[in-house]
Amino acid sequence: MSILRTPRCLLPSRKLPADSKAMTSLPGGTWTLGDLDVTRFGYGAMQLAGPWVMGPPADHDGALAVLRDVVESGITHIDTSDAYGPYVTNQLIREALYPYQQNLRIVTKVGANRDAQGGWPTARDPESLRRQVRENLDRLGLDVLDLVNLRLGNAEGPRAEPVAEAFGTLVELQRQGLIRHLGVSNATAEQVAEARAIAPIVCVQNMYNLAHRSDDTLIDELAADDIAYVPFFPLGGFSPLQSSALDAVAARLESTPMSVALAWLLRRSPNILLIPGTKSSAHLHANIAGAGLALAPDDLAELDKIRG
Ligand SMILES: NC(=O)c1ccc[n+]([C@@H]2O[C@H](COP(=O)([O-])OP(=O)(O)OC[C@H]3O[C@@H](n4cnc5c(N)ncnc54)[C@H](OP(=O)(O)O)[C@@H]3O)[C@@H](O)[C@H]2O)c1
Repeated sequence: MSILRTPRCLLPSRKLPADSKAMTSLPGGTWTLGDLDVTRFGYGAMQLAGPWVMGPPADHDGALAVLRDVVESGITHIDTSDAYGPYVTNQLIREALYPYQQNLRIVTKVGANRDAQGGWPTARDPESLRRQVRENLDRLGLDVLDLVNLRLGNAEGPRAEPVAEAFGTLVELQRQGLIRHLGVSNATAEQVAEARAIAPIVCVQNMYNLAHRSDDTLIDELAADDIAYVPFFPLGGFSPLQSSALDAVAARLESTPMSVALAWLLRRSPNILLIPGTKSSAHLHANIAGAGLALAPDDLAELDKIRG
């Protein structure tokens, strides 16, 4: 669906009353994940680990400073996983931010381990999932995880396969009080439907950006049901977005491609939550400012040509 035909994105979220305590000056305002308010501008912690998301950061104190900057900027949504490092980003989050401020929502994911070569072997049998949830709780220093995404597929992308056993295991942990809300990640539309038939989800976290839009229909369907869509690799991930149309719009607006890409996502649909990753406080602040960029109809029309 063309973004120019999506007037819903111009409306404020239906889920937030005007006097919501979760008001923010961050671009995009706020969204409610189940019963948890978050800023639509969030932060993805994956890039804080070492190269290729393995090992410790080159600059440990710098990583802690970025996390503290995230919270001081008013961001209340941090995305992480024990698979990052492995364990590194969760340890950094705890070191930098514990005890957590009350409105901070740390979203984690389970379903993959790491191997010595930096691979992401799947780990979705019930015992592995129970262990990963327990380990996330311990490492983050929490009694309950706000939101756990079941990561499906593999590093190459989503894969058609049943989700019932793995998702059912997380539902069981939710019933035991260890998880507040559930989501799925790296999922096909069929897997999203299968999970939703088992238990409510509050978000889908999939790869999506200006140049990779295969989830357009899914985003609109989720928006209609007040379910968040959280694009990973919003800036292209390990391969920064490259497009002459994006560069042209950025130049015309005297801005940067990163800013335009984030502003476009916020405008694309009200259920989109941003989790751009960076290990640099300067980039964090540039991204916050950039996501508030105003895009005119001409800009949107030009950006719409990029769709991949
Ligand atoms: N569910 C999943 O399977 C899955 C998969 C991948 C990622 N994720 C989540 O999604 C989050 C976002 O993905 P991501 O961090 O990999 O990709 P991303 O946000 O698309 O891009 C991050 C890259 O962009 C660079 N960058 C950020 N802001 C910049 C700026 N203003 N100027 C220049 N470069 C900039 C970063 O480098 P610097 O560090 O130098 O700023 C980093 O290399 C992750 O943190 C993770 O939480 C989930």
